[in-house]
This record gives sequence, C-alpha cells and structure tokens, in this order.
Amino acid sequence: MGIWPTGYLTWATVISPALLMVLVYILGIVYRWKAGRANLNSVRMDGKTVVITGASAGIGKETARDMASRGAKVILGCRNIPKATKVADDIRNTTGNEKVFVRQLDTSSLTSTRNFCNQILAEEKRIDVLILNAGIAGLDERNLTSDGFEYTMATNHFGHFLLANMLLGLLKKSRPSRIVIVSSDSLLDTLSVDNLNFEKGEFGPYKSYCQSKSCNVLFCRRLAELTRGEGVVVNSMNPGLVYTEIFDKAGGIFIGLFFRLLVPFLGKTEVQGAQTVVYLAAAEETGAITGKFFEDCKISSTADALLKNDELAKQVWEASETLVGLQPNEKHY
Ligand SMILES: NC(=O)c1ccc[n+]([C@@H]2O[C@H](COP(=O)([O-])OP(=O)(O)OC[C@H]3O[C@@H](n4cnc5c(N)ncnc54)[C@H](OP(=O)(O)O)[C@@H]3O)[C@@H](O)[C@H]2O)c1
Repeated sequence: MGIWPTGYLTWATVISPALLMVLVYILGIVYRWKAGRANLNSVRMDGKTVVITGASAGIGKETARDMASRGAKVILGCRNIPKATKVADDIRNTTGNEKVFVRQLDTSSLTSTRNFCNQILAEEKRIDVLILNAGIAGLDERNLTSDGFEYTMATNHFGHFLLANMLLGLLKKSRPSRIVIVSSDSLLDTLSVDNLNFEKGEFGPYKSYCQSKSCNVLFCRRLAELTRGEGVVVNSMNPGLVYTEIFDKAGGIFIGLFFRLLVPFLGKTEVQGAQTVVYLAAAEETGAITGKFFEDCKISSTADALLKNDELAKQVWEASETLVGLQPNEKHY
C-alpha cells in the first residue's frame, strides 16, 4: 500500500474539502471586490458633529475613524469604556483629529440610554449625523433586560428607538441633518407586534436578530414619514457580511457556528463594511433621500416588503413608544 489514496471515494474525500475551501476563498475575493465604495475622498465634515452608537469595534469603529478623518467631531456611545477609550485613542492617532470623545451608553438599558441622551443634550450644541449602529446577534436563550425586554430587541431596537426620539429635537435644530440606521439583510417579511419580546414563545437566536433588524427598517420608515420636510433624513442599510467580532460573541448554530467559520474567508473587511454607512452620513446626494434602504452604496429592494407595509410600521412605532415609555418632553415629531 502506497501513501496515495486509492479508488474514487478516497480521492474524493481528499479533494472535495480542498476544492470547497478554494471555492469559498474565491467567492470571498469576488464578494469583497464587488463591495460598494463610498468614493467620497474630497468630502470634509469640519464643524459637524457625529454621534455613533457601538463604535468600540467593527463597522462602528471604522465609521467613526472615517468621520474623524474628514474633520468631524465624533462622539462614540459605548458600553465598555476602557475598550472604547483605546479605540478613541487609536482614531485620534491615525487621523490627527483630537475631537473624538467617548460617552457611556448601554442601548439594552432604557436608563443608560436616557442618561446618555441627557448628557449629549446638555453638552452638545448640534448633531449633524446620528448613526445607530450598536448591535448583537445570536443569543441562545430568551433573557430579559431589567426593563423586561428580550435582550436582542432591547439592544438593537428599543434603545435606539428611544435614543433617536430623544435626540430628534437637536437634530432638527441642526438641520440639514441625517440619521443612519444599521440594519441587515436578515429580515422578516412581517412580525407579530403583540409578541415583540417573544412572551408567546417562538424565540430563536436567528429569529430574534431578524426581528430586531426588521424593527430597525420599520422604525426608519415611520420616522422618515414623521420628519418629512423638516430637514432630517433617515435611512436604513445593510452593511453586508462583514468579518467583525459580532460572530465571536454570537451563539446559535447558524450565526455562532456556521457564520463564524465562514466569515473570515467570505466577509468584507470592517472598512468595506463601513462604506455604505459613510455614504449615507456624508455624500451630498444622500442628504436629500429619506426612508430608503441601502446596500453597497445604492438604494436596494431587499427590505421592500417591510418598507411597503405602512400599517406595520405604525404599529411597531406605537408599540415601541408605549414599551419604552416615551415621555411628552422626549417627543419631537
Ligand atoms: N458583521 C456583519 O456581517 C453584519 C451584517 C449585517 C448587519 N450588521 C450590523 O452591523 C452593526 C455593527 O455590528 P458589527 O458587525 O460591527 O459587530 P461588532 O464588531 O460586534 O460591533 C458591535 C458594536 O456594538 C456594541 N454593542 C453591543 N451591544 C451594545 C449595547 N448594549 N450598548 C452599546 N453598545 C453595544 C459593541 O460593543 P462591545 O465592543 O462592548 O461589544 C460594538 O461596539 C450591528 O447592528 C449589526 O447587527 C453586521
């Protein structure tokens, strides 16, 4: 017997996994090559203030770096202050922009979100761009926050819903201004408004993520309606598959295992993942577009089922308003 495999099946067992890896590798190269680019080299943001949630890692970190490189004052709303402070130092060092600041924000907590907004409202004279980016994915179990919300929904949707509402008055005063909501292409066509926190069962790591990202799109759509003609544009977007920490923090077979294995080969880089966010935050042409969904720096039809569902957008808005207990002084629409 030699060292070489004999027979068809033996060769197949050696070659198939190798071919599969080569195929995945090539698909990744093509995917990254086709990724949309903001192409805004000449756009400056001096004198503008950008607030971004979840900027201690991944897409948020690279978006913050880009905004700082254009001269904007950048405020990073983050839950892990030591980690965010290192990122802010790194952004200051790489861009030469000293106006990069960290503020405490845990979007899964209504108290933390209210404290963050009150601090921003007390300290800042303007907000030109608000980027709602913080996110988690793939929680194995249905755990509740101290406010009684399912964690993924609290982090990805409810906190951001409250935050955008509280800062809307300042965004209006700073007009023309923009809100960018980082969603995903992991979307549902519809959802049960009376079961937003999965009280009636049917919880799953992927389902809760998809529902929270669908709420981002519906929230964007309704907010765009409510602010139309008032100098604030609101758009949501999908960054694509991006190689970030989100998969290391995730559980579940689909997100935590399958994607964690594939994303290093298939995913965009963090800088590439930030391109559509940057495009919506800074491009001249996107300053006049509101209520749309973007992918690869273009309007996309991926979220059309949700964007056309006026009634569902209203219902999710009303349910969210009740659940976060939006106060009269926090309403600016
Ligand atoms: N990566 C992808 O393929 C992909 C695809 C579609 C959509 N997205 C979306 O893109 C956004 C950014 O994700 P990413 O891939 O860049 O992930 P990431 O590298 O894990 O970054 C997520 C950021 O959100 C922060 N965060 C998480 N929970 C938070 C909370 N309760 N309060 C405040 N900040 C919180 C994280 O803080 P820590 O550093 O403290 O963890 C981190 O700064 C998310 O909304 C995600 O759903 C990502």
